[in-house]
Amino acid sequence: MILFNGRIVEDDQVAISPTDRGYNFGDGIYEVFRIYGGQLFEREAHMARLSRSAAAIRLRLPWTIDELDRQLRQLMEAQPVDNGTLYIQITRCAAPRNHAFPAQGEAVVVAFIRELPRPVAALENGIQAVTMEDIRWLRCDIKSLNLLPNVLAKQEALDRGAGEAIFHRGATVTECSSSNFMAVKDGIVYTHPATNLILHGVTRGVLLQLAAQQGIAVVERPFDLAFLAQADEAFLSGTTSEITPIVGIDGRPVGDGAPGPVTRRLQQAFERRVQACADGKPE
Ligand SMILES: Cc1ncc(COP(=O)(O)O)c(C=O)c1O
Repeated sequence: MILFNGRIVEDDQVAISPTDRGYNFGDGIYEVFRIYGGQLFEREAHMARLSRSAAAIRLRLPWTIDELDRQLRQLMEAQPVDNGTLYIQITRCAAPRNHAFPAQGEAVVVAFIRELPRPVAALENGIQAVTMEDIRWLRCDIKSLNLLPNVLAKQEALDRGAGEAIFHRGATVTECSSSNFMAVKDGIVYTHPATNLILHGVTRGVLLQLAAQQGIAVVERPFDLAFLAQADEAFLSGTTSEITPIVGIDGRPVGDGAPGPVTRRLQQAFERRVQACADGKPE
């Protein structure tokens, strides 16, 4: 089932115009929600970011956030899944190809749900990562459809036998190709501040709350590759990847090469949030 411009239809009833500006220019935005136990995780935070992304690219949403929210609930009723994702994308409109905005045109909304098991092996064992120059634009805080640098980086990471790419702009570590990045040194979590250079991850936001509750200090400050090389632990955060330990970077072990104690504590606290969501009792 697909939510297509306000209606829930079968997949084969969706027709996207070849002149859709999302298709021609990447002129649109998206969100990925996690579903745990049939419930949307951090619904409000994702909706707020969708709204911010729309405003940042001057895209007028065809419905209020409350109405979109209602439609997403209908989609979840039409296609219940236990663990999965809900993807929504909104493009500016279909119009004869021209870079400037057309005078008229309705935004095109597509949303669908897919089952997705939790990444249990990666959560338990951690993953390898490789560092790569961050060649993206200067508005990485907008969740826009333009993901080519992220796509290329992720593929290169996989080709090099790793699971994720850690971006650096010059020497400054920013985030990963599809997740935020954190390093731990002497029990303190370091992460790039939420500026225009990173996506303000919903999971990152949850993580900051959990760290505060756990009494774990977090420093939101840019750090460089030399600092990263000295880290005791590293992990990433993302809607589908949750809190995944990074146990090796560029072929060298992080700390002793196993998920560290700070990462584990945050994973456990995150697990409680996930269970509360699945039980219909979000904290
Ligand atoms: C570049 C980038 N950074 C960070 C994230 C993590 O954001 P969130 O926790 O909201 O999924 C994502 C998620 O897709 C991403 O694509």
